[in-house]
Amino acid sequence: MRVLGLETSCDETGVALYDSEQGLLAHALYSQVGLHQAYGGVVPELASRDHIRRLIPLLWEVLEQSSTTTDQIDGIAYTGGPGLIGALLVGASFGRSLAWAWGRPAVAVHHLEGHLLAPMLEAEPPATPFLALLVSGGHTLLVRVDAIGCYRILGQTLDDAVGEAFDKTAKLLGLGYPGGPALERLAKQGNPERFNFPRPMTDRPGLDFSFSGLKTYAMNTLRAGDSMMERIPGAGSLRADVACAFQQAAVDTLMIKCRRALQQTGLSRLVVAGGVGANASLRRQLHRLSETLGISLYFPRLEFCTDNGAMIAYAGCLRLQAGQFEGPSFNARARWPIDELQGLRAEG
Ligand code: KG4
Ligand code: ZN
Repeated sequence: MRVLGLETSCDETGVALYDSEQGLLAHALYSQVGLHQAYGGVVPELASRDHIRRLIPLLWEVLEQSSTTTDQIDGIAYTGGPGLIGALLVGASFGRSLAWAWGRPAVAVHHLEGHLLAPMLEAEPPATPFLALLVSGGHTLLVRVDAIGCYRILGQTLDDAVGEAFDKTAKLLGLGYPGGPALERLAKQGNPERFNFPRPMTDRPGLDFSFSGLKTYAMNTLRAGDSMMERIPGAGSLRADVACAFQQAAVDTLMIKCRRALQQTGLSRLVVAGGVGANASLRRQLHRLSETLGISLYFPRLEFCTDNGAMIAYAGCLRLQAGQFEGPSFNARARWPIDELQGLRAEG
């Protein structure tokens, strides 16, 4: 089965073709970063309009890359939520229109299921059951995955997502949007010994997170540092030191909760997905944790940590193969709890 995947939930337009026999055939991505940079964050209306502009050229690109003709496409998968509602509706209406025109089934894919299954596109995919750490701009979740489609949330953030905390702290530091990669670069120049930020909610039981306090801590540290600028030797590197301390605290907090979740569940596989999964410090520490605990660790390749069409095509292919497609009416969901999803039924 050959499936076209469309991702338009936020500020990246992703289109891909996945074939159940041959694997990923082609993928193309257009990032709107340049468009939103001047505003310091995503402007939803601009995002929707730009998805409209990009979808058709990207579709041609993947068809050409894979020498696929439209009659070889067996189904269409689009991101149905969660995300920005206008942006989602662009992908949904485009996907449903193609499905109608081509006489093919279509399915709405859950964006986080897409992220969570992205490591399945790699040479050595994880088997179920596994623990998944989902760290993106909108979500921070620890999920127990007993089978594809059967997701039990073990912990989640009570306020900001970790990617959001990276972005907001980056903004305080005068870095551009998106802040995560820029903060990571600045943190490399920082002194890890200078500040010690708190590790929120690690001193109590449970697997939930809270990241909004870290951003406030960074703000207060910056203010205090700025006012003492002249008196502290090396104060010129204040921003780098704050970036470094913030990143250490955020990564450490994720590690503490991952370790706890692995110990509580006894699971021996850990899957990490979502944009923050691209962070080198997080990846390094997770490798160390996996060696210490003797568990297997799975990441998507770097370009599939952030939003992309490939993960949507893959997740959609599994759903379509299981006979899960919809009638002609459709809806997009800005909010869509992942534990509402159903498992895959046997084919036929
Ligand atoms: O998964 P994603 O592309 O979009 C959402 O579904 O939210 O994640 C985007 C988030 C942004 O907050 C971005 O700053 C963060 O992932 N991010 C990073 C890095 N690369 C992307 N955060 C920390 N370090 C990075 N290298
Ligand atoms: Zn995402």
